[in-house]
Amino acid sequence: MLTTGPRGTNDILPQEVGKWQILEEKIRSWCERYHFGEIRTPIFEHTELFLRGVGETTDIVEKEMYTFTDRGDRSITLRPEGTASTVRAFLQHKLAGQAPLQKLYYMGPMFRYDRPQAGRYRQFHQFGVEMLGSAEAVADAEVIVIALDILKELGLNDLEVHINSIGCPQCRQVHREKLVEFLGDRLSELCPDCASRFERNPLRILDCKNKKCQAIVSDAPAVMTCLCDDCRAHFEKLQSYLQKLNIKYEVDTNLVRGLDYYTKTVFEIMYSGLGAQSTVCGGGRYDGLVEECGGPSTPAVGFAMGLERVLLTLEKMGIQLAVPQGIDIFIASMGDEAQKEAFLLLHECRAHGLKGEMDYRKRSLKAQMKQANKLGAEKVVILGEEELNKGQAVVRMMETGEQLEVELSQLIETLEK
Ligand code: HAM
Repeated sequence: MLTTGPRGTNDILPQEVGKWQILEEKIRSWCERYHFGEIRTPIFEHTELFLRGVGETTDIVEKEMYTFTDRGDRSITLRPEGTASTVRAFLQHKLAGQAPLQKLYYMGPMFRYDRPQAGRYRQFHQFGVEMLGSAEAVADAEVIVIALDILKELGLNDLEVHINSIGCPQCRQVHREKLVEFLGDRLSELCPDCASRFERNPLRILDCKNKKCQAIVSDAPAVMTCLCDDCRAHFEKLQSYLQKLNIKYEVDTNLVRGLDYYTKTVFEIMYSGLGAQSTVCGGGRYDGLVEECGGPSTPAVGFAMGLERVLLTLEKMGIQLAVPQGIDIFIASMGDEAQKEAFLLLHECRAHGLKGEMDYRKRSLKAQMKQANKLGAEKVVILGEEELNKGQAVVRMMETGEQLEVELSQLIETLEK
């Protein structure tokens, strides 16, 4: 127990963290270009927010939340996703008063008590964007396009984009009636969860992971067949924006997504090579959520991307991110005086922006040179008593093996070259 982390959690070790940092940098750079501002919300919230926001009949709320009572007897939940928290912060800080259109993004850990498998963890990381204040289809297109731009820059060009419309509450009411009629005769064949969803939220049955339920609903009426004129026009407009940018997509009328807040557009970006957990990015419009959380009616659209899944996709496709390796300087020294000088010199090197390392264990010169080589040092400074007495050091270029004697006063200048 003491030496093993909880199931479904991962340590990101120094040798792996480089690709995370590159991914995060690229995401931030694209968010800047699209003028999305970063928001950092707490990792825990009042449980009520997710019950209301995500929806009481969703798998997340029914089975997957890390909920506990704190010492003040409040029910607290580790955030399972970022949209509800963003909406809460948007309302709490009256962001709409600062600018009626808010373009926000976040990155960080999320928590879901799900059965861990490849691409599914109990602590995982999402990058998400939320655009609050526009009801226009161009906003839906904008969030899909930023996701694709980021994935493309990473080399992930050929992911599948699935889009669908699940309509507004009016279309959904029409659909609900059709669905209830369709499922009515098959009620006894549904899994116990779906049997209870039938009364409370039959749309969720379309999203059930149970194979038998999936087979039953494969012929169920699609929401697409029940769209009102406004929702249909919105969906067509979104497609015209995607076409304008030559984006390949597929209309997938079975796509409903697993959270309750969606209205109109839903979409997923997938890579089938990931197997069961093939969705790299999922999102959609949620025009009713701000109101549901106690605010004024505010249209909104966004998505979240699973960062572990992005990295897994890169791995499966054999794409390596260019993680910088090696160090600029290694300072090898022999003897107490020389080590003190090395310590001072290294301090100066770092102040000049050089990446440097030295020996901290009083090892032999041979062992230090071996370590410098292993660390990929570009130059090694050798400081021995004899060199020090002459006010000099030896600088070795590791690639060519060339060595020069340099005056200590000239050393930083030489190393910076
Ligand atoms: P979601 O589909 O629940 O949507 O999650 C979005 C993405 O997070 C998934 O497509 C997947 O890549 C990743 N993900 C989810 N669960 C796990 C897990 N257990 N392990 C690893 N990765 C996971 C949302 O969370 C919505 N808040 C998205 C959104 C934002 N919609 C509108 N705005």
